[in-house]
Amino acid sequence: MSFESDVRRGLGTKPYRLPPHWFYDELGSRLFDAICLLPWYRITRAERRLLHRAARAMTQATPRPAFVAELGPGNGEKLTLFLEDLGGAPPILLVDISHEALAASAARLAKAGFGRVAAVRGTYEAGLARIARERPRRGSALVLFLGSNVGNFEPPRAARFLRDVRSALEPGDGLLLGADLVKPEKDLLLAYDDPLGVTAAFNRNVLARMNRELGADVDLTSFAHRAVWNAGEGRMEMSLVSRLAQTVRIPGARLDVRFRKGESIFTEASYKYVSADLRVRVEAAGFAARRHFEDRAAGYALTLFTAVNRPR
Ligand code: AVJ
Repeated sequence: MSFESDVRRGLGTKPYRLPPHWFYDELGSRLFDAICLLPWYRITRAERRLLHRAARAMTQATPRPAFVAELGPGNGEKLTLFLEDLGGAPPILLVDISHEALAASAARLAKAGFGRVAAVRGTYEAGLARIARERPRRGSALVLFLGSNVGNFEPPRAARFLRDVRSALEPGDGLLLGADLVKPEKDLLLAYDDPLGVTAAFNRNVLARMNRELGADVDLTSFAHRAVWNAGEGRMEMSLVSRLAQTVRIPGARLDVRFRKGESIFTEASYKYVSADLRVRVEAAGFAARRHFEDRAAGYALTLFTAVNRPR
């Protein structure tokens, strides 16, 4: 689960690939924040509006959660706004593999006056185990999984993840899930290959990180950013394409990697959903959809599920 071991595994055999969570070092987290401000990347703004509506609906309909956890809180902005809308200050647990993300989100929550904030730096699995252990026996827990982070999972992995979330929860607990929806290809290409080149920089930063942390000698200009829509799989795919035949040295991973011209590293899959399908899949993991909020123009959906009696 270290960068070094994932680089060795991902670039040690073909086809080359790297897990997307390594994008988010300090620079990568800032570049992602910049992506969220791009007019062509509508996920973050759409979700902020939908969270506002969800919070209003939740204060009317249900008792407030006694415990809130977010998997992958990023810079903490959405969670802070959501909790302010919701009112009250439940104990909060943040789960992220990125040290920068945890520090930024914990600081933002503290600044907003939320005092009881704990953090798990690690995998979602580790975070879920902690949720199961620490959620109060009385009252309900709410888990947030936002930003279409679920889109990074291959479908079987998403199914397993959802069952793991369900196992960590008790009947009546909530899961607030944000998902980017299938939309016209031209919109997706602009969102993942923006005219300002911010997404290209974000993608290439994983190579810059190999240089910084593993002593690699990658010439960053020798890799092109590529984003394509894979209609068959229903996902956006990002990769880094070698513009020439070259060998990259990565001493920190004890690896020399040869590239042919045009050979690529697969860096991220971002699955896009159809609301009804997603609902079926989440319900198959032992949840029932309670409220659905959708931004048709942006093609984004936020759904509140509750854990039901037994996972099917
Ligand atoms: C944070 C994984 C949801 O897939 O849209 C943004 C990351 N990659 N631009 C996404 C990302 C390229 C983002 N997620």
